[in-house]
Amino acid sequence: MSAPRHFLDLKDYDGAALRRILDRALAFKAGDPDRPLEGKTLAMIFEQPSTRTRVSFEVAMRQLGGHVIVLSGQETQVKRGESWADTARVLSRYVDAIMIRTDNHDKLTELAANAEVPVINGLTDRSHPCQLMADVMTFEERRGAIAGKRIAWSGDGNNVATSWIHAAARFDFDFAVGCPPERRPPADALAWAEANGARVSVHDDPAAAVSDAHAVVTDVWVSMNDGGESSRHNLLAPYRVDERLMAEARPDAIFLHCLPAHRGEEVAGAVIDGPQSVVWDEAENRLHAQKGILAWCLGR
Ligand code: CP
Ligand code: NVA
Repeated sequence: MSAPRHFLDLKDYDGAALRRILDRALAFKAGDPDRPLEGKTLAMIFEQPSTRTRVSFEVAMRQLGGHVIVLSGQETQVKRGESWADTARVLSRYVDAIMIRTDNHDKLTELAANAEVPVINGLTDRSHPCQLMADVMTFEERRGAIAGKRIAWSGDGNNVATSWIHAAARFDFDFAVGCPPERRPPADALAWAEANGARVSVHDDPAAAVSDAHAVVTDVWVSMNDGGESSRHNLLAPYRVDERLMAEARPDAIFLHCLPAHRGEEVAGAVIDGPQSVVWDEAENRLHAQKGILAWCLGR
């Protein structure tokens, strides 16, 4: 049996494969009636909350002809000590693919190493690759090819920032991170970027990161796998994306946020609800991008 085609991190695939997924996503969005997942079942495991990922994967599966089974972290035997490896072996006998959102990336890799069906990363403490496929798609719909453009991140160097770093290498754009020294993206992600020739820069000064950017991106200051760390708010306040910071970017820069957002914290209401914001298209594109991912993992 051939190895399953997992979707774990953007760094695992070359730019051509990711581009094929995006092309398929765009075709589905444009109305391609193909239903390549007829009769297929996706198991979705949620150890953490979700609105967009939960609903967009289910709708994507249904619209492509398939079904889903949703499991919360509380209701499998993992809760009582069954390993992720054994869970993967068993689920592989019932379903055609597994998506997991979890607090620990190692659980994802254990699942993938033991599954006989594709495993999809629906967010871990370390990365969020499905989000990035929607984000690149959204950028390109508005501003054309992302290759050679400058994307700025202002805020916490978190899981989504790590997937942006992977995307910068695979889609060939400049990625400038503005963050406090205490909240830089993980050292292994930055080392990977350097080893892979990605044009990633890290700045203490948010205006330096955002300068000349074609898009400005941020995310929550405290991620769901971080616990309640309110002290971080003082540290991150200078990196809030407000109108003053947006004015440092190119005049036609767009604003992206994976959502959920906290207005008045990482982003000002005037920005996320203003004319440069494309966050609702970005949320919609999770649906189309995931159709591309599912078809790539599972389809003909
Ligand atoms: N952006 C995102 O993944 O949203 P959810 O947490 O609602 O799935
Ligand atoms: N960084 C955020 C993303 C939410 C989709 C988190 O992990 O909570």
